[in-house]
Amino acid sequence: MDDLRSNDPASVIAADRAHVWHHLIQHKPFETIDPRIIVEGKGMQVWDIKGREYLDAVSGGVWTVNVGYGRERIADAVRDQLVKMCYFAGASGTIAGAEFAERLVSKMPGLSRVYYANSGSEANEKAFKMVRAISAKHHGGKKSKILYRDRDYHGTTIGALSAGGQQERNARFGPFAPGFIEVPHCLEYRAQWEGPDYGVKAADAIEEVILREGPDEIGALCLEPVTAGGGCIVPPAGYWERVQEICRKYDILLHIDEVVCGLGRTGTWFGYQQFGVEPDLVTMAKGVASGYAAISCCVTTEAVFDAFKDADDPLGHFRDISTFGGCASGPVAALENMKIIEEEGLCENSAAMGEYLMERFRELEAKHQVIGEVRGLGLFAGIELVADRETREPLAEKLVAKVQAEALAEDVMIGAANRSVPGFNNVLLFAPALIATRDDIDRIVAAVDAGLTRAVA
Ligand SMILES: Cc1ncc(COP(=O)(O)O)c(C=O)c1O
Repeated sequence: MDDLRSNDPASVIAADRAHVWHHLIQHKPFETIDPRIIVEGKGMQVWDIKGREYLDAVSGGVWTVNVGYGRERIADAVRDQLVKMCYFAGASGTIAGAEFAERLVSKMPGLSRVYYANSGSEANEKAFKMVRAISAKHHGGKKSKILYRDRDYHGTTIGALSAGGQQERNARFGPFAPGFIEVPHCLEYRAQWEGPDYGVKAADAIEEVILREGPDEIGALCLEPVTAGGGCIVPPAGYWERVQEICRKYDILLHIDEVVCGLGRTGTWFGYQQFGVEPDLVTMAKGVASGYAAISCCVTTEAVFDAFKDADDPLGHFRDISTFGGCASGPVAALENMKIIEEEGLCENSAAMGEYLMERFRELEAKHQVIGEVRGLGLFAGIELVADRETREPLAEKLVAKVQAEALAEDVMIGAANRSVPGFNNVLLFAPALIATRDDIDRIVAAVDAGLTRAVA
């Protein structure tokens, strides 16, 4: 049946069209056009069921396949693990889980405990629950509120959406959980304050919210190191230093969501390491095993962990379970993934190719009036498109989509902010695998150049 099906694309497409409910997409057009079915990947390339080859500049659509497709050593390690011990609930350990945790925290000075789960949303839920439990046990219910930032995204579950700063992701899914409070974004291109030191001003705005809510009420501040889907926002100079200072001043736990930036994406193991901050909780998912297995982690300091140690309190430990956090395939894939990143110098490549990508995008900026700003760090980059450079009016979404479609016509898959910030889904997004070469970057840039020329000129 499987063989028959792979030789019969039309029947696969028919089954998909009839029965699969795809993520994040309107299905009405599938009444007349075929859904895309991806069947194979190697390195940076993927092939669809009709045999068409693409260069994937978005690592599996949502910035996940950091080490590229077709890594046999990860598949072999997962296979060997599965036949020996596929699963056991996380109240017990596995060899791979112990090994990966040790190796992971060796890259994260100051952090020492790894809680396994299986999606970014879930890892963030764990962090939120830890903060709430610490509030209940150690602060008499004070310090239960969690701050999140406008334009940041932390996942798809109702709890994570309650910390969601992308209003179009949240729309129609409320009501949300109480106790999540928004702070302003820090995108200087869309400045909310005048004058110099924008990074410090944007961080000061967090302090204002803390003072308004009452420092005693705030347990944690949850931030992406670089806002990803909300428009590729690299915080301006001075921001992170001030954020750290504020968290220390008011005894607020700093939770960094590394779901996108984690594992080399920005050119260091973690995005926060670009800015010298010391978080209390770090969550990660996508690049942890590059999509070869589902795994996420919530990594904490020993102090956070110790807050749950009390043998006399029946509710004192972290009463949380992730069934699939016990899948041994996750850490085994993550271990191989991490070895590949180390052996092939992929953090360094991400930094070097990221610089080259920005350089090439700046050439496009000089050529195309429709580019308002190019931003990025390592191999995560964004191009904000505007209808008018003077007024910075965002380019119409239909035209942004057309640029993307025209790049696809060049066989290059690029991304764009998708039902994220109302009126500001005008940022093209790029996150090629960390193995990208200068030739790959040149192809991506050429496709964007062609896309901009055809869609907008
Ligand atoms: C920054 C960030 N956090 C969390 C998530 C949620 O991850 P998942 O889709 O694995 O639940 C995402 C997903 O895109 C993300 O971009």
